[in-house]
Amino acid sequence: LYKLSSEQLSQQRHYDFGLRAVKSVLVMAGEAKRSRSDLPEDAILIGAMRDANLPKYLDDDLPLFNAIVRDLFPRSEIPMKEHKELEAGISMALRKDNKQEIPAFMNKVVQLFETFQVRFGVMLVGPPGGGKSTIYRTLQSAMNDLKEAGSQDERFQRVHTHVLNPKSVTMGELYGEVNKLTQEWKNGLASSIMREVIKDASEDKHWVTFDGPVDALWIENMNTVLDDNMTLCLSNGERIKLKSEMRMLFEVQDLEVASPATVSRVGIVFVAPSQLGYLPYLHSWILRYTEPTKDEKKGDGDPLVAEKEVLVLPDS
Ligand SMILES: Nc1ncnc2c1ncn2[C@@H]1O[C@H](COP(=O)(O)OP(=O)(O)OP(=O)(O)O)[C@@H](O)[C@H]1O
Ligand SMILES: [Mg+2]
Repeated sequence: LYKLSSEQLSQQRHYDFGLRAVKSVLVMAGEAKRSRSDLPEDAILIGAMRDANLPKYLDDDLPLFNAIVRDLFPRSEIPMKEHKELEAGISMALRKDNKQEIPAFMNKVVQLFETFQVRFGVMLVGPPGGGKSTIYRTLQSAMNDLKEAGSQDERFQRVHTHVLNPKSVTMGELYGEVNKLTQEWKNGLASSIMREVIKDASEDKHWVTFDGPVDALWIENMNTVLDDNMTLCLSNGERIKLKSEMRMLFEVQDLEVASPATVSRVGIVFVAPSQLGYLPYLHSWILRYTEPTKDEKKGDGDPLVAEKEVLVLPDS
């Protein structure tokens, strides 16, 4: 399957069909086997192969991939995984945040959740405005809500995000450096965040989010983090061992300059703007301005709101 996929699908920098990808399939299959022991083993394996790969494909490659799976395993009918609880949580989180419940968008949130289960580092890849930030924020708020509502599923825990832009600071400021004049060690942004996070002894999850372009320099230091040993090595020889509750989340536009070593270490969720379109954005915008208008009718709005109403009404 992987050989055919790498030959027939389009060439993308974020596609990877190496051994690490196979390992994540095995982890996923193992989990599925434990939770659904009624299914035959080959169906579980094929399902895991499909679920591990779908998140990263472009829209055009999806039918091709499905065709390859059908050709290779013509007789097996593999049920889709169910996420009733999570989907309810996502719907609630979207409504609370005045966002539209687009099926393709909610599917991406579920895929992000699934990828988080099998990978330590996850990249949300896609052009600007595709809803990458909204996807992880929605998942975060859905998981918080589910935990609050007393969900039995231990995968839902309270989530904290730590967002930083790796390209807005220098390498030294990111990971720490030795001051050349005083020979003193100065802590970096990423390393101090991680040091803070590992002090937390609770079950809460922490997502360290790198929101900004990937380049070969800063991401190479993350390679040891994204490995199975999960250790951040700093240039003063210090090693920070990260916890399994943590996740590294990268929000990037493309992986043009990322090395294959990095790409193979992370799980990838591709977010195409075409899945969202502009309509949800418009609907949310209209809703945002129509609600104050009701207050205005009651007589406790301010004149500014009235002005916005004039702007909005012709559209709606
Ligand atoms: N389901 C939705 N319904 C309504 N509006 C949405 C939805 N998802 C995203 N949006 C809106 O689309 C806009 C772009 O989303 P977002 O900021 O998440 O994109 P992004 O991919 O993170 O962009 P960037 O690459 O610039 O960081 C936001 O204003 C967000 O409010
Ligand atoms: Mg964003």
